[in-house]
Amino acid sequence: MCGIVGYTGPREAYPIIIKGLKRLEYRGYDSTGVALQNGGLNVYKKKGKVAELEESIVGVNLHSHIGIGHTRWATHGEPSDRNAHPHQSASGQLAMIHNGIIENYSQLKQELINKGYSFSSDTDTEVLLNFIEEIKKNNNCSLEEAVRVALKRVTGAYVILLMDAGDPGTIIAARKGSPLVIGVGKGEHFLGSDASPMLEYTKEVVYVNDYELAIVKPDELILKNLGNEKITPYIQKLDIELAAIEKGGYDHFMLKEIFEQPRTVYDCLRGRLDAAEGTITMSGIQQYAEQIMNANRIVMVACGTSWHAGLVAEYIFEELCRINVEVEYASEFRYRNPVINKGDVIIAISQSGETADTLVAIENAKNNGAIILGVVNVVGSSIARISHAGAYTHAGPEIGVASTKAFTAQLAVLTMIALKIGYMKGTIPQKRYMQLLNELQEIPEKVAWTLKHSDTIKALAEKYKDAHDFLYLGRGYNFPVALEGALKLKEISYIHAEGYPAAEMKHGPIALVDENLPVVFVATKDPYHEKIMSNMQEIKARKGKVISVITEGDETSASLSDDVMLVPEADEILAPMLTVIPLQLLAYYTGLAKGCDVDKPRNLAKSVTVE
Ligand code: M6R
Repeated sequence: MCGIVGYTGPREAYPIIIKGLKRLEYRGYDSTGVALQNGGLNVYKKKGKVAELEESIVGVNLHSHIGIGHTRWATHGEPSDRNAHPHQSASGQLAMIHNGIIENYSQLKQELINKGYSFSSDTDTEVLLNFIEEIKKNNNCSLEEAVRVALKRVTGAYVILLMDAGDPGTIIAARKGSPLVIGVGKGEHFLGSDASPMLEYTKEVVYVNDYELAIVKPDELILKNLGNEKITPYIQKLDIELAAIEKGGYDHFMLKEIFEQPRTVYDCLRGRLDAAEGTITMSGIQQYAEQIMNANRIVMVACGTSWHAGLVAEYIFEELCRINVEVEYASEFRYRNPVINKGDVIIAISQSGETADTLVAIENAKNNGAIILGVVNVVGSSIARISHAGAYTHAGPEIGVASTKAFTAQLAVLTMIALKIGYMKGTIPQKRYMQLLNELQEIPEKVAWTLKHSDTIKALAEKYKDAHDFLYLGRGYNFPVALEGALKLKEISYIHAEGYPAAEMKHGPIALVDENLPVVFVATKDPYHEKIMSNMQEIKARKGKVISVITEGDETSASLSDDVMLVPEADEILAPMLTVIPLQLLAYYTGLAKGCDVDKPRNLAKSVTVE
């Protein structure tokens, strides 16, 4: 969480930083700030989004060739002007921005208070900054040295960028547990939480690793470890185009990303699935294919929407590979003492590749001898790099805070892995294998068909937008889709929604049903179809409103429903890639109808890099 940007070079720093912060607002948007060297080290910051900061400093001379900027997702201290970053040290000589949490900040704060320091914010960041300044003063050393000494005392996660009034061309940066990318230009350097702020200036980037410190000047990038040894920066070439991170004519990123899904699923299958040849090529996991096939168990580790993809994958792997699968919330898995046996396969699913809980969960599992596969969207992200092997989802940058296209791409990748392993293992009959390959190839077209019905869903959103609660029900492969539909509605429209297995409804949630409760059934034609129709009857008998996602042409389900959303016919294993689409649209249009900021829902951030 929190977005950070930095620039040093011959250009005007402020416009680069502001534009970069707007691209990183998906990471947090409680407050914004920049620090510039314009006739001294000056900080401009404000509660609210980037645009609010911009408005508040119109007319100010912001001319500077170096600067750092921050968009915040609050951890320590409420969103306010004084808690906004950058923070300035007690002497005013240093300015710092931070993404992460300093866990032992209260102990460090007490030490500083004992030395006479006082604080103007409630943040852990201001504590760390003054701790660095105190070391610099006491040891009479460089800022770089002070940062190194300070970080050895720090527990927690951080990316920090620092500027020193006494060294006006340099940014000092360090990372542990939160992402940091440095863009290498000609006589200039860019820094960011991801590569989006630097895309139009350079395609050459360095992904900084944990426990590394960077001294960044216009024409020099020095990378060191905390032991003060130099490391040669490994420069990688980005292959993202600017258009991929712009709205492309849509009102919101979320809508653009929903509508991109025919292409993103296609991109994910492209070069991997060859239905005519009957092959699936996944070079990223090839080396580990035998070990996956022989695994005693697979554990899917993820959070949020990615966890829902893991649940669908559990059903798919068990069905196609006959391997025992467990699906774990990363945040629980990492803190318990799970039994991990050598040779267990852990599949980490993550759009951002930076989710702190998922990252630490797989680090622990790796240390215990598990094989780690990453199913990740962001190329070069921490989870991708720490995994032994894996497959990228190739969905392109997902900027809307609500995850949409990443989910369908995750399902496509996980399905291909299961098909490949099941086929190798001989647990999928040839005929079924070929049928699934052919059907999988048709999914992008079927997603496009589903999207053509968006107007019906828009009208439904208007009709039900004033409901206080929603229930989402599904069975089998569509149960995780019900959970995902409920999550989408909650985060985008702030309407309370619960997802449940349709049969489990009778064990409690049915008590909620009355004429005011919309119940969304994910009820496509599959082996549970008759059962779920009985569940619809049970809701109707209690006067609940039935809204169903059904297979085109299914008159029986339609007759039991107050409203329907259609998807084309598909094998039950592949159906979630279709049934989730109307639910994404329902959440989007409901949020829109209620006047919510759908791309930046309150309290949320795209990438949860705190624990
Ligand atoms: O980047 P990740 O896939 O690891 O993120 C996991 C969750 O934080 C994410 O899916 C979150 O639940 C989204 N807001 C859901 O729309």
